[in-house]
Amino acid sequence: MNDLRADASDTPDSPGISDLPDPPQSSSAAGHDAAEDEAGVARREVGAAESVRAGRSWWDDNADEYQAEHGDFLGDARFVWGPEGLDEQQAGLLGDVAGRTVLEIGAGAAQCSRALLARGARPVALDLSYRQLQHSRRIDEGHGTDVPVVQADAAALPFGDGVFDLAFTAYGALNFSPDGAGIMREVHRVLKPGGRWVFSLTHPIRWAFPDDPGEEGLTVTHSYFDTTPYVEQDGRGQATYVEHHRTLGMRVREVAAAGFRLVDLVEPEWPADLLQVWGGWSPTRGRMIPGTAIFVCVRD
Ligand SMILES: C[S@@+](CC[C@H](N)C(=O)[O-])C[C@H]1O[C@@H](n2cnc3c(N)ncnc32)[C@H](O)[C@@H]1O
Repeated sequence: MNDLRADASDTPDSPGISDLPDPPQSSSAAGHDAAEDEAGVARREVGAAESVRAGRSWWDDNADEYQAEHGDFLGDARFVWGPEGLDEQQAGLLGDVAGRTVLEIGAGAAQCSRALLARGARPVALDLSYRQLQHSRRIDEGHGTDVPVVQADAAALPFGDGVFDLAFTAYGALNFSPDGAGIMREVHRVLKPGGRWVFSLTHPIRWAFPDDPGEEGLTVTHSYFDTTPYVEQDGRGQATYVEHHRTLGMRVREVAAAGFRLVDLVEPEWPADLLQVWGGWSPTRGRMIPGTAIFVCVRD
């Protein structure tokens, strides 16, 4: 749907990627001898276990392509909030990070954490995908850095209460998790009072438009209010990729229900000199409608 995935049809190997050991085989990647009658794309309800399993499997299978296609833009130790390239070094949404314990959720290859490490923070990078975290190790080895990584579902954080000063995600977990409200509660639990929780995700308005970077992507074709998950499934009808939509109002209520105070909602504009196309994000659409929403929250 409104995905930040790699275009798997045309992705060269990056140096070092093909040298990584294979990730553990995920259950849904096994056995593809089923009839093809249920394969395809659907808007349907999907259980939490099926959704998380699909997410882990999909990102394990596609992490190499994602990093090969987007690694240059992301940078090895750079912190961008989304395809518009808003850089945390300029935006300062997390505030002062020096000496702070910071949890990055849905970290991918932990490029953002590595940028914070260089500014004196003490980051921990968490992701559901083992393969994504292998890419973090690969980059660390090239840079002489050592970002601590944890493989877990963001809706069940394996940390004690009140251990982090700050938490954030750049497009990780929330679009893919069936339990956005649970993620908010977990982040609230692991943060110290006064801590910030800053998260970016696909701007909810994008769900009303086709995921097309051209003019076709500027005509509303779907109800913004329909929160039925977007599901890609195999021949057995098992989800292989899932995205979850919440309206802006629903996200605000998730934030408030978890106990956070929302202090800003940033909608980065597309820079006039940025020519890249990333999935459905492009100069053509970026000039007209927001592509990213960044919520800045405080745990009082
Ligand atoms: C679009 S990528 C963003 C990665 C990174 N933040 C970046 O900007 O490149 C989404 C990431 O979220 C992770 N993810 C998806 N569902 C998750 C979950 N339930 N818990 C933790 N991470 C999750 C994926 O494995 C993937 O690495």
